[in-house]
Amino acid sequence: MIRPAAGADLPELALLWERYRAEANDVRWADAGQWQTWIMPRISAGDVRIGTVERTINAYAAWQRILDAQTGARNLEIRELYVHPDGRGQRLGSGLLARAIDAARQRECEAVELVSNVDDEGVRALVGPFGFEYSGGALRLQLQRR
Ligand SMILES: CC(C)(COP(=O)(O)OP(=O)(O)OC[C@H]1O[C@@H](n2cnc3c(N)ncnc32)[C@H](O)[C@@H]1OP(=O)(O)O)[C@@H](O)C(=O)NCCC(=O)NCCS
Repeated sequence: MIRPAAGADLPELALLWERYRAEANDVRWADAGQWQTWIMPRISAGDVRIGTVERTINAYAAWQRILDAQTGARNLEIRELYVHPDGRGQRLGSGLLARAIDAARQRECEAVELVSNVDDEGVRALVGPFGFEYSGGALRLQLQRR
C-alpha cells in the first residue's frame, strides 16, 4: 500500500533512511538530524509517500518542487526513492515513481528529475520505461516544453 507520510511515521522512516544511506552511500546529509530538518517540512507539504507491506514501512519517496534559477523552469526533484530489500519486486518502487509524476503534473512542473542513486542498475531499469533519460547527473523526465 502506498500512502502519504505523516509526522508519526518519522521514527520508522528515519530507520529506513539509515538503511538507504548505507546502501546508496549517500553523503548529502551529515547526519540523521540534518536529514530530519529537511524531511519534516516535506512531510507537512505532502511531498513524501511511503510504501508499506503488512504495516511495515518498506519504501519511500521524497520530492521537492524547485525553481531552476537559470531557466526559471519549475521541476519536481525526487531527492530520495528507496525500497528496502525485503519489499523489492512488489511494485512499490514503480508505484512511488508514478505518484511523483502525478504530483509533478498536478503542480504544473516541466520535468521530473531523480537525483539520487542515478548510477544504480535497478533504479535505471525502473525509471527507463517511464521515459526518464540520463542528463546532467540526473535521470530526467520531460513533461512539458515551453
Ligand atoms: C530500484 C528500486 C527502487 C526498485 O524498487 P522495486 O519496488 O523493487 O521495483 P518494482 O517492483 O516497482 O519494479 C518495477 C520494474 O523495474 C525493473 N527493476 C526494478 N529493480 C530492478 C533491478 N534490480 N534490476 C533490473 N530491473 C529492475 C523491473 O523491470 C521491474 O519490473 P518487473 O517486476 O516486471 O521485472 C529498489 O530496488 C531500490 O530502492 N534499490 C536501491 C538501490 C540502491 O540504493 N542501491 C545502492 C547502490 S547505488
